[in-house]
Amino acid sequence: MDGITVAPHSLAPVGSPEQAAQLNCSITVDGRQAMAIAGEPLVDALNRSGIEVPQVCYHPRLGPIQTCDTCMVKVGGKLVRACGTKTADGMVVESEAAEARAAQREAFDRILKNHLLYCTVCDNSNGNCTVHNTTAKMKVEHQKYPYTPKPYEKDMSNPFYRYDPDQCILCGRCVEACQNVQVNETLSIGWEMDHPRVLWDGGQQIAGSSCVSCGHCITVCPCNALMEKSMLGEAGYLTHLPAEGLEKMIDLVKELEPETGYGPIMMVSETEAAMREVRVKRTKTVCTYCGVGCSFDVWTKDRHILKVEPGEGAANNISTCVKGKFGWDYVNHEDRLQQPLIREGDAFRPASWEEALALIGKRLGGIKAEHGPDALGFISSSKCTNEENYLMQKLARAVVGTNNVDNCSRYCQSPATQGLFRTVGYGGDSGSISDIASAAMVVVIGSNTTESHPVLSTRVKRAHKLNGQKLIVADLRRHEMADRADIFIQPSPGTDLVWLSAVTKYIFDNGLAKMDFIERWVNKVEEYRKSLEPFTMEYAAKITGLSVETLTRVAEEIAAAESVCILWAMGVTQHCGGSDTSTAISNLLLATGNYMRTGTGAYPLRGHNNVQGASDFGCMPIYFPGYEKVTDDEVRHRYEQAWGVKLSSSKGLDNHEMVRAIEDGKLKGIYLFGEDMFSADSNANYVGAQFAKLDFFVVQDIFFSETCRYADVVLPASPSLEKEGTFVNTERRIQRLYEVLEPLGESRPDWRIVQDIANSLGAKWNYTHPADVMHEAASLAPMFAGVTYDRLAGYKTLQWPVAIDGTDQPLLYTEKFNFPDGKANFYPLEWIAPCEEIDQEYDIHLNNGRLLEHFHEGNMTYRVKGIHEETPNRFLEVSPELAEERNLQTGQWVDVTSRYGELRVQVLVTDRVKGKQVFIPLNSPEKPVNLLTSHFTDRVTHTPAYKETPVHMKILPWKGENPLPGINFRNGHPTPQRGVEVERKWARKDYRLPGDELVQIKTQ
Ligand code: SF4
Ligand code: SF4
Ligand code: SF4
Ligand code: FES
Repeated sequence: MDGITVAPHSLAPVGSPEQAAQLNCSITVDGRQAMAIAGEPLVDALNRSGIEVPQVCYHPRLGPIQTCDTCMVKVGGKLVRACGTKTADGMVVESEAAEARAAQREAFDRILKNHLLYCTVCDNSNGNCTVHNTTAKMKVEHQKYPYTPKPYEKDMSNPFYRYDPDQCILCGRCVEACQNVQVNETLSIGWEMDHPRVLWDGGQQIAGSSCVSCGHCITVCPCNALMEKSMLGEAGYLTHLPAEGLEKMIDLVKELEPETGYGPIMMVSETEAAMREVRVKRTKTVCTYCGVGCSFDVWTKDRHILKVEPGEGAANNISTCVKGKFGWDYVNHEDRLQQPLIREGDAFRPASWEEALALIGKRLGGIKAEHGPDALGFISSSKCTNEENYLMQKLARAVVGTNNVDNCSRYCQSPATQGLFRTVGYGGDSGSISDIASAAMVVVIGSNTTESHPVLSTRVKRAHKLNGQKLIVADLRRHEMADRADIFIQPSPGTDLVWLSAVTKYIFDNGLAKMDFIERWVNKVEEYRKSLEPFTMEYAAKITGLSVETLTRVAEEIAAAESVCILWAMGVTQHCGGSDTSTAISNLLLATGNYMRTGTGAYPLRGHNNVQGASDFGCMPIYFPGYEKVTDDEVRHRYEQAWGVKLSSSKGLDNHEMVRAIEDGKLKGIYLFGEDMFSADSNANYVGAQFAKLDFFVVQDIFFSETCRYADVVLPASPSLEKEGTFVNTERRIQRLYEVLEPLGESRPDWRIVQDIANSLGAKWNYTHPADVMHEAASLAPMFAGVTYDRLAGYKTLQWPVAIDGTDQPLLYTEKFNFPDGKANFYPLEWIAPCEEIDQEYDIHLNNGRLLEHFHEGNMTYRVKGIHEETPNRFLEVSPELAEERNLQTGQWVDVTSRYGELRVQVLVTDRVKGKQVFIPLNSPEKPVNLLTSHFTDRVTHTPAYKETPVHMKILPWKGENPLPGINFRNGHPTPQRGVEVERKWARKDYRLPGDELVQIKTQ
């Protein structure tokens, strides 16, 4: 983070080429000239020029907070805070004037009154503690004000972190991060209290407050007041002492300080901190959970994960959510598969790799010989790397000879990709997360962004809170984004296409469409406008249940906005008309000219960490890497030459078709990695029944998933922390991950296993590192021509397409759309009602989706102790209306039945859902929600219509406790305010700006 800064509410880092280009004024500092940016915080200009001024509360990513007063300098002869002063041309700054130095020192002495310097036995003393470093830099020997503990207990109630009021210097960084970056609005400082402290929800204990354990506050805390529990007693050589021993050590330091001064004490602790460097490893990785693509350093000591430290990630900088920050216990969980398993009857026995691979080669090879290559299917994983996905499709195509290869984007994102292919040509986000943040308006459709794409949502929440961004949300369910929205609409299930088309028609009919843009850039205007004729406002009102007034307001607001980004997710795609609704979104953006500029475009929010990359790198039945068709002779010939084999020219089967093909007796064997397909596919009972019919089934995973139960061989794979490779996030951003830990037991990274299997089938692959694989992919797929591991080293990233010279494309459409004539296409649509709707028997509409703290079915997050404690159960959200109608209370057990299966679950009454709509989270410690979902799919892509499930609810005669424990954040009550509200500190009677009076201090 050093050297990176932002002006308030802006995002360009200091030191970046954009900022270097902005240097536009000259200032004088201590008699020397320096270049600066007019309007930037003066502290940034000083830092850039190498002027050393203390700055305890200032964090480059937070902007000026002005709570610590340590950055006092003289400007034009007057003492000012350097962080709170805007740089101006001709400014004359004195940082070394005696009054400035005295004020800095006075301010820092006030800080030390709040913080005991027991660095040698502190787990935060790792060379990066701001309080320690400032003490050393200012050469503080004796503090002016004695350390004074505060009359509060440590708060240890959160499973992941603790707050120690006695060490809290009241800098307010945590409050700023929580209020204005994460925008969870949990934290404040009780400035008016006799002994101010940080407060959760205005004064609650942490557990049970609205804190979502995102970790922002801990990441920015400049000392040990907020710390990861995983660090405590682990980071230092002496910090594991029992509490009593620690107290003695701390008392010893207190006794020594008057005699020796801090100098020798600091030296001892710095020596100890340097020793820690030897055993603490810091490794960059990319989050394995959602598609936002947060990256961070993981600190480890042997296999113990000390902490996750974000800072430089292109997608997230200081941000994480609970999963990225704390969700890693599963890596060392006792349930990890560590040896191959081979089925014997109804059980499995451990086997050697040699035996397992020989069996796989024999059985897959045998099926191919007997039934042909198309009797085999290959199912890849959006949890695995690009390189692993590339090898999987190469195994299917080049070694086996089939295009039967797919990945789990089939379950979520394929319809969005289809909508974009039809209209603008590339199946990826139009821009970057920074575009979303800078848009004048964000429209969110069918996405619980705060819980499913947490860090991305913080950028929207921040822009909405601080920068006046407009927010429109369309969803069935009332969630945080809905509560924050300027307009929140709840159309009837499966009718988004109708309101989107009606809004677009209204915009055309009322002369609000951007005709200049359309004439220059979009084909098929008349054809499309004709298709819009049925979509009058009245028709839309009838179908969606929204009023004409609301629809008109939505249309007028969207048309009037200077720049619009539309975000959508599985609430759109997981319907029978998912592709068409995605297309309607893109049509609306084209009609309003919201492409080809920063702050505009289409953003299908990719669900898994590498769901974008799994498709990008060719795990689709019709596409080679980079979306070139297997049916294209020129493309196929290119791959045939490189791989030295003849390739199939016919489209293969997708996941859904593979399951059908088992039933039809055409598919005999499957090799699947990194996917709990039984739980993830819809109509799980049917899927399981088909798996049971396979002649041979190889499943490769890190845990024994539900899908493994159907396997003949189970192979132990390594999770992301145990491998190298790259992921592509939702912004098309390719990022490298490095090996944090060695593979556990006999588990192996998936790319090695795929190579082993290819070789067991007679291939002679010899990839020694994922970089070899990327090199090959880049040489074959023009979309990745310029991708190299060097260009992705550390925190460097590239957003595809990447030209051979390494030029990437953060904004996807700048000079043209991805069609031969460079123009986009309107795509005419009609609305078809959902495949299944509620009726008398199945009278309730079931919705499902993610929770913030769990990921998908929960295979990983249920194995994270803290997450399990906070959210151990699944539940059924029932509206207050339905609860009243059926006499239901929270805790009641019910059986939920669909035409496909049944689940037993406890009720949670909440106004997040309305009427006869209920919601079940995807995560489950037991049976998956997909036992209830149907076999209906999107008409184009075969993505299951998970969100169209009518159910019946039978009330059981038992009631239990609330399935959501009291410590869950959903029970909290946030306390929104605009940042740390330092003015309240300044209003205290006992506050005086350092330097306001003559300050007599001896400096060393
Ligand atoms: S939500 Fe909790 S963990 Fe996140 S910044 Fe706020 S207080 Fe900290
Ligand atoms: S807990 Fe908050 S106010 Fe206290 S030192 Fe840490 S960041 Fe500053
Ligand atoms: S789950 Fe998503 S938002 Fe959370 S840390 Fe990981 S990538 Fe970031
Ligand atoms: S760094 Fe300027 S007031 Fe804290």
